[in-house]
Amino acid sequence: MNVMTTEPAREKNKISAKPGPYTIETVLSVKHYTDRLFHFRITRPAAFRFRSGEFIMIGLPKEDGKPLLRAYSVASPFWDEALDFYSIKVPDGPLTSRLQHIQEGDEILLGKKPVGTLVLDALKPGKRLYMVSTGTGIAPFASLIRDPETYEKFDEVILTHTCRELAELKYGEELVAATKEDELIGEMAREKLVHFTSVTRDDGPVKGRVTDMINSGELFDHLGVPAFDPAVDRVMICGSEGLLKDTRQICLDRGFVEGSNAAPADFVVEKAFVATD
Ligand code: A2P
Repeated sequence: MNVMTTEPAREKNKISAKPGPYTIETVLSVKHYTDRLFHFRITRPAAFRFRSGEFIMIGLPKEDGKPLLRAYSVASPFWDEALDFYSIKVPDGPLTSRLQHIQEGDEILLGKKPVGTLVLDALKPGKRLYMVSTGTGIAPFASLIRDPETYEKFDEVILTHTCRELAELKYGEELVAATKEDELIGEMAREKLVHFTSVTRDDGPVKGRVTDMINSGELFDHLGVPAFDPAVDRVMICGSEGLLKDTRQICLDRGFVEGSNAAPADFVVEKAFVATD
């Protein structure tokens, strides 16, 4: 059935091409999850390569024509034909206050050089991989849980996602459900991927900060696994400043060594950048 719309079609925002460290891409779709969160998908240049977990600069031109760019984790797998991003809307944020209004057909700036430490290359081999996230910090894991290498390297992959409210968990729930049904990755994900969620300001099945649940042991009881052990566990952390600081300390206190691209080790940390836009 055709639905009549009373909204006049607005003209698509086009960007006049200027040479720079970015390409001009087209928005393919936008989905708003809450009044604070949205997801968008853009075209991917044929030459654009990245490692799962990396971030890239995304932006729009300012009124003076100069680009305004922020770091965003790529939320789609490396084998996908387009690029996905998951963003917060900061009411006064210079970029996200405008970016939240993008629509299909609009143009957007995409950086050329993906980088980041939240990559499998920065971790030593292990048995169990924890991906600890809050809010939009789940974005890089949306890429990593769809990378076959994640499942080749680990026997068990545990994605934890903590948000303020239940509605903010929806993106992750849809993502994990779709991953488990995916033609390429579904079988591995069904066997190895565990999704653990909690909320801190709503009444949900599990309530509390993941850090408190690690310290109390509640997380491991829920999962039915032994507590953090640097001999077998590896940890990737992405979310708010507070989460990074506290989870990093938890890892250090338990004898985990922080890894990097140059020196792979037991855990890695990355900020969910645009939360501060
Ligand atoms: P809380 O509601 O107790 O602050 P935000 O939307 O502000 O980015 O937060 C996302 C989630 O991260 C919230 O559930 C929030 O819990 C949680 N959080 C904030 N700081 C920390 C921290 N230091 N350790 C663990 N979780 C945190």
